[in-house]
Amino acid sequence: MKVLLIGSGGREHALAWKIAQSPQLTALYAAPGNPGIAEEATIVALDIDDHAAVVDFCRKESIDFVVVGPEAPLVAGLADVLRAADIAVFGPSAAAAQLEGSKGFTKDLCARYGIPTGAYRRFGEADPAKAYVREQGTPIVIKADGLAAGKGVTVAMTLDEALAAVDECFSGAFGSAGAEVVVEAYLDGEEASFFCLSDGKTVLPLASAQDHKRVGDGDTGPNTGGMGAYSPAPVMTAEMVERTMNEIIEPTVSGMAESGHPFTGVFFAGLMITAKGPELIEYNVRFGDPECQVLMMRMKSDLLPLLYAAATGTLDGMEIEWHDEAALTVVMASRGYPGSYEKNTPIGALPGASATTKVFHAGTAIKDGRLVATGGRVLNVTAIGPTVSDAKDAAYACVTGVSWENGFYRRDIGWRAVARERT
Ligand code: AMP
Ligand code: GLY
Repeated sequence: MKVLLIGSGGREHALAWKIAQSPQLTALYAAPGNPGIAEEATIVALDIDDHAAVVDFCRKESIDFVVVGPEAPLVAGLADVLRAADIAVFGPSAAAAQLEGSKGFTKDLCARYGIPTGAYRRFGEADPAKAYVREQGTPIVIKADGLAAGKGVTVAMTLDEALAAVDECFSGAFGSAGAEVVVEAYLDGEEASFFCLSDGKTVLPLASAQDHKRVGDGDTGPNTGGMGAYSPAPVMTAEMVERTMNEIIEPTVSGMAESGHPFTGVFFAGLMITAKGPELIEYNVRFGDPECQVLMMRMKSDLLPLLYAAATGTLDGMEIEWHDEAALTVVMASRGYPGSYEKNTPIGALPGASATTKVFHAGTAIKDGRLVATGGRVLNVTAIGPTVSDAKDAAYACVTGVSWENGFYRRDIGWRAVARERT
């Protein structure tokens, strides 16, 4: 099978690394790619926003299958254009990608099918939103409806914060993403991410993970795209997985099919495990970054036929095997991230892969023959071990092998699971 992978982050490096191990693969191409992905795939100079150019490339190179990593091309309809050209593609249609692209869309789906989630209202203007916030009281959560690069959510502990967040959305701080606002009840509990493949009818549960969104140790400081992750998440017990499948994922799949927009691709459910059980915070319609990196380390099965089955409606009867071990990844980021940071800082030595460790590239590039950091999140130092504590020790030991002066990282990735393992 000839495969084109779309994306350039650590998630896509992990996907490329795993796809490259498939006996079914005959050639792997990637666009835009990065230097890590280039070790696994042929990088092609393709403008991924130019959907016609992507189709042309696929035709010219006889690509059998396209795997889309990030959400933006999906929300922009790349999967629709490829499907219309009879090219198999992993990832949902633009209509189904609304599960990530519009928080209001997902909340309405939850309401229609009785999927557990925080009570909510949608607003197109500030005054009624503020009146609702005053009526509900705090804590309360204010969300820009659309894609806001992870910055459109305010968990407000005070009324002033909540009212300011409403104003911020409607002031245009998030562009058109903030033209509509969802005001949502605060959910108390422990967060977990849960991943499943769907071909539109059948769902195959993958695994759970936990991310670390805040930039600083002890979950302090501003939100980021994710500073580290581990899998599995101990809070996702067999019972919670079963309830999540029955109460959240299955009704979503049948609801989307009923609406005429069956969901194919990967569900990334952001969950809050509350006293009542699992409740949906949000859906993403692609793998998490850096959650994907730990899932790929733990996956024993060949990934490629699973993705292809999800894309072609043939997931029924497929099975998936996992290594029993836990995996953990530490994100190394440019000093200053998630604020402004210096670009093109040199990265010296990188530790080579071992049987239990692997460094995935995110925001890196080769400039004048040297590896440099070009992004906020730059490297994902990933390890596998018998327990989360072991994977953590192995990942941090590997971090010491990275020489990059402008890099920083959290020192406590995995703390919740490590604390549980101690007791
Ligand atoms: P989202 O972009 O929807 O994932 O929201 C970002 C973060 O805000 C989540 O990971 C949670 O930590 C928090 N959050 C979102 N919605 C809620 C909610 N209803 N209750 C409590 N925390 C929330
Ligand atoms: N790590 C969170 C995300 O990929 O959205």
